[in-house]
Order: sequence, then C-alpha cells, then structure tokens
Amino acid sequence: MPSTPLDESRRTTPHSVGESFRIKMVQTLQKVPYDVRASALREAAYNVLRLPRERVYLDFASTRGNAGMTDRQLSALMIGDEAYAGSANFYALEQTCRDLFGKQFTVPTHQGRGAEHLILRGLLRPGQTVATNGNVLTLRPLADALGLRVESLLSSDAFDPSSKHAFKADPPLAKLKALLEGGRVHLVVLGASLPMLGGQPLSLEALADCAALARRYRVPLALDASMLASAAYLTLTNRRGGDTLSALIRRYADLCDVLYLSGREDATCHTGGLIATNHEELYVTFRSLVVVYEGLHTYGGQAGRDMQVLAQGLRDMLDESYLAFRTRKLAYLARHLAEAGYQVYQPLGLSGVCLDAATAPIPGLTEPARSDEPGAARSANLAALFYLVSGIRLRPTPTAALGGRLDLLGVFVPRRCYTERQIDYLIESLAHLRKYRIATTLQIRDRDPVAPELTRYRVDGPFITEYHDDFRPTYTPEPYFMKVVEPCRLKPAAERATAIREAGYNTFLLRSEDIYIDLLTDSGTAAMSNKQWATMLEIRESELGSEASSLFLERCREVLGYRHFLPTHQGRAAEHLLSQAMISQGQYVINNMYFTTTREHQERAGGVFVDLIRDEAHDPRSPHPFKGDLDPGKLTDFIAKHGPQTIAYVCVETNVNMAGGQPVSMAGTKEISAICRYHRIPVIFDATRIAENAFLIKTREPAYADWTIGEIIRELMALGDGCTISAKKDVLVNIGGILGVNDPALFEKCAALCATFEGTPWSGGLASRDLAAMAVGLDEMTEYDYIRSRVEQVQYLWARLKDAGVPVVEPPGGHAVFLDARAFLPHLPQEEFPAQRLAAALYEMSGVRGMERGIVSAGRDPATGRHRGSKLELVRLTIPRRVYTYSHMDVVADGVIELFRKREALKGLRMVYEPPMLRFFTARFELL
Ligand SMILES: Cc1ncc(COP(=O)(O)O)c(C=O)c1O
Repeated sequence: MPSTPLDESRRTTPHSVGESFRIKMVQTLQKVPYDVRASALREAAYNVLRLPRERVYLDFASTRGNAGMTDRQLSALMIGDEAYAGSANFYALEQTCRDLFGKQFTVPTHQGRGAEHLILRGLLRPGQTVATNGNVLTLRPLADALGLRVESLLSSDAFDPSSKHAFKADPPLAKLKALLEGGRVHLVVLGASLPMLGGQPLSLEALADCAALARRYRVPLALDASMLASAAYLTLTNRRGGDTLSALIRRYADLCDVLYLSGREDATCHTGGLIATNHEELYVTFRSLVVVYEGLHTYGGQAGRDMQVLAQGLRDMLDESYLAFRTRKLAYLARHLAEAGYQVYQPLGLSGVCLDAATAPIPGLTEPARSDEPGAARSANLAALFYLVSGIRLRPTPTAALGGRLDLLGVFVPRRCYTERQIDYLIESLAHLRKYRIATTLQIRDRDPVAPELTRYRVDGPFITEYHDDFRPTYTPEPYFMKVVEPCRLKPAAERATAIREAGYNTFLLRSEDIYIDLLTDSGTAAMSNKQWATMLEIRESELGSEASSLFLERCREVLGYRHFLPTHQGRAAEHLLSQAMISQGQYVINNMYFTTTREHQERAGGVFVDLIRDEAHDPRSPHPFKGDLDPGKLTDFIAKHGPQTIAYVCVETNVNMAGGQPVSMAGTKEISAICRYHRIPVIFDATRIAENAFLIKTREPAYADWTIGEIIRELMALGDGCTISAKKDVLVNIGGILGVNDPALFEKCAALCATFEGTPWSGGLASRDLAAMAVGLDEMTEYDYIRSRVEQVQYLWARLKDAGVPVVEPPGGHAVFLDARAFLPHLPQEEFPAQRLAAALYEMSGVRGMERGIVSAGRDPATGRHRGSKLELVRLTIPRRVYTYSHMDVVADGVIELFRKREALKGLRMVYEPPMLRFFTARFELL
C-alpha cells in the first residue's frame, strides 16, 4: 500500500497563502555528499564565501543577482537591441524611470557599484566625506580608492537585535545635523533598505527629514533604491493611509536629488544598475563620467538586453502580492528558527532572517580560542559548521564594518528561487545542527587584500566532533529550483462568479487569465528545465535529416526500448495513426477503462471498444494499489467467447487517467502479456504516464523496490509490442507525442500515415526544437528524485483532503487527485451533472480550475443517443509537473475543504448546449 510521506505535525502547514507566481523554468539542484563538502571547505580555507557555487546545495548567502526572473524578463532578454548608440532598450529604461521614479534623466551603469562610483567621483573631491546608513560593503572600498572618508549613519537601534523599531535603517538625525553643521559632510547616501541587516527599511519620514537637512546645507542626497520596493512595502504594512505601492515609491524618489540602484535586488536582474535624476547639471556630470568608466551614456556598460530586462524587472517589482508572499515566507522561516533555539534579529526586513551568532545554541562555540591569535567571528564558525553538515551556505555577517558589535548569521533568501520544502529543509537542518560540537574554532590565517569577507582561516585540530549522517528531513525537497516564474493571481470573488457564468459553468471555457491555480490538466503544462531550453536553442531547425530526430530516436530506444519510433504532434495523433494502421472494421479493442481520445480513435477506425479493467477501478473507495490492471479472468473469458482473431489489440494505459491516475502492476501486466502472447494478440501501451506508473510500481510492488525508474520502464515496455505517448505529460514538454512499435511492417504503415497527417516521419510535424526537448525530457522523467517529488506532491494534496473527510478516489494516483462528486454532492442526481457543478463551484470558491470526469465526459451512446452514464462521477484536480509548490497545494486543499463544508447549498446544472463529439470541451450549462 502507498504510504503518505507525511508526518502529522507538519500536515497542516502554514502556507495557506500561495505564491503570486507559478514556475516556468526549473534548474536542477545537486546535493553535495559529505566527503565533497569536507574537502571543499578545506579548500575554501573554512570560509563559506570562498566556496564554488557547484559545491553548494542551497545557497542562502545572498539575495543579489540570483533571483528567478519573471517570464516577461526572460522575453525581454530576447528583445535586446544591441546598438552601440541610442538602443531602443535604453529608451525603455529611461521611460520606466520616468514612470516609476519621476526622474527625467537616466544613466545606465553596469551594476550598482558602477552607479556608486560615478556618484562619488562626480560629486566629491578627495578628502571629502560621504555620510551613509547603507551599503558600506561596496561604498567603503570605492571611497578608499577615491581618497574619500565615510561616516556611518546608523543608530544604536540597528545593532540591537531585540529592538522593535520598525525602521532600523533610519539615520540618527542629530548626528547628521551635527555633521552637516560642521561642514564635515559633502554627500549623503541613504539606503532604502539595509541588506546586511536582513533588509531593514528606511522610513519615508526619516528620508524627508534628512532631505530637508541636506537641502538646508546644500549637500546632495542620493537614495540607494535597490530595495526601494521592499522598503515601500514595509512602510505600507506599517502605516494606515491610502497610498499605493507605486505612489509610495514615487514619494521616496521625490525626496532625493539622485536616485541610483542595483538591478540585482528588487528588480530581480542578474546584472545592471542605473542613476536617475531631475537635475540637469548632475545628469551632465554623470553623463560625462559614464562614457569614461562604463560605456556610452545610452548603454552604460550594459548589453541592450540587460537594460530591457532591468526595465521589465523594475515594473515587475511593483507586484504587491509577491511582496506579501515574501513577507509571510520570511516570517514563517523566522518563527521556526526561533523555535529551534536561535535568536532572530527583529523586526524582519525583506532580505532574509538574521540570527544572533553570539547566542546560537551550538556546543563548542562558547569555548575560548586556544591560541593568542584572535579567532574568527562566531558567525564564520557557525556558517562553516552548517555547510559541512547540510551543504547549505549562509552568510557570516559581523557588523563591525557597519560600526556595530553584533555578529549575525544571515539567512538571505533569494527571490522567487527556493520552494517552501527547501525552506523547510533549511529549518530542519539548522535545528539538527545542535547535535554537533565544534571541536576547534577557526583562527584567522590571512586576510584577503581585496575583500575582508574573504579572509582565510585555519583550524589547529579537528573542526567538529564526528560527523553522523543521520539527518532525515520530514520531506525531500524538490530536486530543482525556480529559474523563471510566471505571475498568477487570484481574481476577486465577484469577477470569478461572472467568469464561470459566462463560461457556461464549463471550466474548459474559462480564460487562463481568470485562473489562479490551474489544475485543469497536466497536459503540456510542465515547466521545462534549463537543460531542455538549452538543447532547444542548440538544435538546428531542419526538415530533412534533422539532428534532433537522431537525438529523439536514440533517447526513445534507450528509455522505451522499441525498435521503431515516430514523433507526432501530440498523443492523439499517435493514437490516430496506430488505430488506423491496426484496427479493421468491427474488430474489438480491449482497454483498461478508456481515455477520451483513445476511444474516439479506436471507434473511428471501425473498432469496437471494450473495457476489461478490474472491478475495483470502478469503486472509488477501494484501496487496491493497482486499480489500473486489466482483469485477466475477464480477458480470458472474452477471448474464449469471441476468438483471438476478433481482437485488434489490447491497449494497456499506464496510470489510468480516468480511473483516478491508478497504476498497472508489473505482475498483473506480465499476466496479461502472457495471455496475449499465447493468443498472438498485440499489446500496445498508452505509456503517457509511464514514469509515474514506474514510481508507483517501485513503491507498491516489493519485488521492484530496488529497481531504478529506468529499469522498471524498460521491463514494463518489454511486455508489449508498441506504445503511444502523449509527451505532454511525463515527458515534460509542452507539445509532442510518440509512437513506438517493434513490427517493421506496422511501422511502415504508421510512417505512411504520419507523412499524410502529421509531417515527415522524422519530424512528425514538430519543430526540431520540440524533438530535442522531448529527448531531454525522456531522461529527466526517469530521475528518481524528480519523479518522487512529483508523486509526493500529489499524495500531499490527497492526504490533506482525505484527512478533512473529503471524498477522494483511493488510493492516491500519480498525477491527480480525484474528488468523488457523487459522495461530495449526494443530493444531486447524475442527470444534474454533479461533477460539472463541483468543478465550477471550486473555481468560484478559490480560483482553482479542475475538470469534470463523469457523465459529461462519457458522452452519448451513438446507437441509443442516450447519455452513456458513468459509474464514476469525478472532478479531476491534475497537478502540472514542476509548476506549483506546496503552498499552492494548501490553497487548493483549503478551497476544497471550505466547499465541502458548504456543499449542501450547491444546486445542479442543466445542459443548454451540446456539441456532437467530445462534448465536455464545449458544452454549456445553466444553474438549476
Ligand atoms: C492517457 C492519455 N492518452 C492520450 C492522451 C491524448 O494525448 P494528447 O492530448 O497529447 O493528444 C491523453 C491526454 O490527455 C492521455 O491522458
């Protein structure tokens, strides 16, 4: 039996608010084994900031330049106008600064420090002083290089981890006034948020006060707006009043003479910066410097594409629902770290969570250093220990450079990058850290001449007591992080009500933009990986003898094992070709239940559809682990009654969709295959969900527990003579299908049909890039960590619903959770379309789109013209692959549970329009 991988205490997780985005592109995460971590740490001289990225599993050391881009930023990359002068992208950036900040003049720079350089050089002479609350890490070395002095403008509150002051970036006004009065400051630079302290914000009031002072003494004021959206959002949540986020941003911007930023923080770029101002004489100063140090004033050291990405990122950073989600996510992290015994720096900003290293509950850290030489900060010791134990990098952040005495360990959370499960993994690893003891603390070996934070350490003895590989997290996190995301949001209830009414209560007729979480289908909805995208870009488009075709065929043969393959534009096309090639008029086709398009093509080819699935498949309550299996007794009887020659083939669907994503077993399929081989009846798999089925065989059929997913797939496929596949599911692509057979004569027939209906037999009517994406997807689907996290996410949603008493099809399948609409709405007769009604109501309740799988999908009997009726009356909630996170699953679960409480109020539907075939796609209904 399947075991749900959940532990009771975590089942009601706190993520009832979902992200304001879904995942569009993922990148694989690699775990780093202990031995490799240990040697990498030694090579990095025990300073985690010296570790190469590929030696780090999860990287929480910085929020700079490592965010997941939005899909619009990704497309902005593609509209780079790489002109030397007057690039269209520059004008897009300039317009964005006018719209967002109200600044007329914009000077692009290669990064934030490029902007800082021009500002310091342009506005100060050697020997003069800049006063700042902010970014000393980049400002101080620049000031040193230019012969300038730096005055810190941080208040004592900033160094008090328990002070509740909401705006710890606010400078001490009296100090600033004294400095200005004494003529000892010539430029004021204020950071809108302080990343080193977790993103502490600067208040609008403090900025206004400083601006008034600076004006009085005729000293220019520059605002570092790299995290201005964060600061403005925290201001919004701390005050009452009618300002919108963009209005507040504008008010901050209005108070400074010069605004500058790094695109690598709130604007989620990987490079790029800018200076913006309304003062023409300042602009002229920067413009004459930018050409010397950065690039021409209309590109300033950025590629055209990067300016476009920055322009887009600045607009995307106004997404308030993302900032709200991030706030909650960081609060969740902080709460759990506090529970694990760490003192958390308060209040939280929007960069991450800082822990007080001085009070961290780790044995050994409190021991005095053994040599006279000063030891490394505790945060450096802690970060080294944590990396060694978990492979996760945090950032040691002693605040001496800021003029304080705090020693913080920064958990900086990259934007739109890691999922909750990965955050949970971090939390559990930090709690687990207490099991270790630092045996010998780090000593400073030599300071780095370029960057003080890159100091090398040595350890005069063993660093930690023995390592035990005993960390068992509650969940296995997804084996990928988010590379590109796509915004999605919940529309207001009234708009959802209108949308579903206008869609005739058919979720197929809703517009995607009206949906928050789209569980209509797992078909073509997967997030592709960076590797798939890279291969797509690499491949040459060619209709003849395409290299993509060779790659595709090679992976098909390796993963699926048949001799001949054809690509098709999608699954139903493969079904079309195969049905036409194999079925003669009046022949039976045996199936394990049915899939709509499969059955349609069998019948159109003259076949007589027969369902011989085992009886448990029709019972949503039966916990049988392999409800997808054909019933061998029924098959034998059928053959005995009709004769084997009357049967065109037996079609075995893996992870039977219409039965609730229920798998077939290896043992059961072997039995069916043996019967068919004996009678010379071909077996054709619908292997659309073969990887999920293989995972369920591995976890439910003990004989295969030690087999790899790839081995199970090959073993299963070897029981058949061919397959059709909709590659839009397990193969992780957005378009594509596969037809595979062993028999060369059958292949010839299919290839000829392919040329007629699809395209050349080596392209199947697909672009070469789509063949390439399928080739990579075939490999990715067999990776154990991936398929496990995929199926476990489905099981998680299932378990939450089941625990709340919602009637769901049992046991959980591989790709979807099916609600039993008959049991959910027992007061509605099937003629009132209970599943159709439930799907529509769920959309209205929570913006979640599911699909009817019941009497509407079953269609009408062509002979009698009556509804075919359907034993199962289900709503399918299908989870797209690598797209949604656990917090999205919680939103879905909460919505269904709420609806279940209110179920009695739901009335049935009347069908008011019915198309002649596949009616579920376009039928329309009205409320009774
Ligand atoms: C089991 C099964 N077979 C075949 C198909 C048809 O494939 P496609 O939609 O790619 O034409 C699907 C699609 O939903 C499916 O789930």
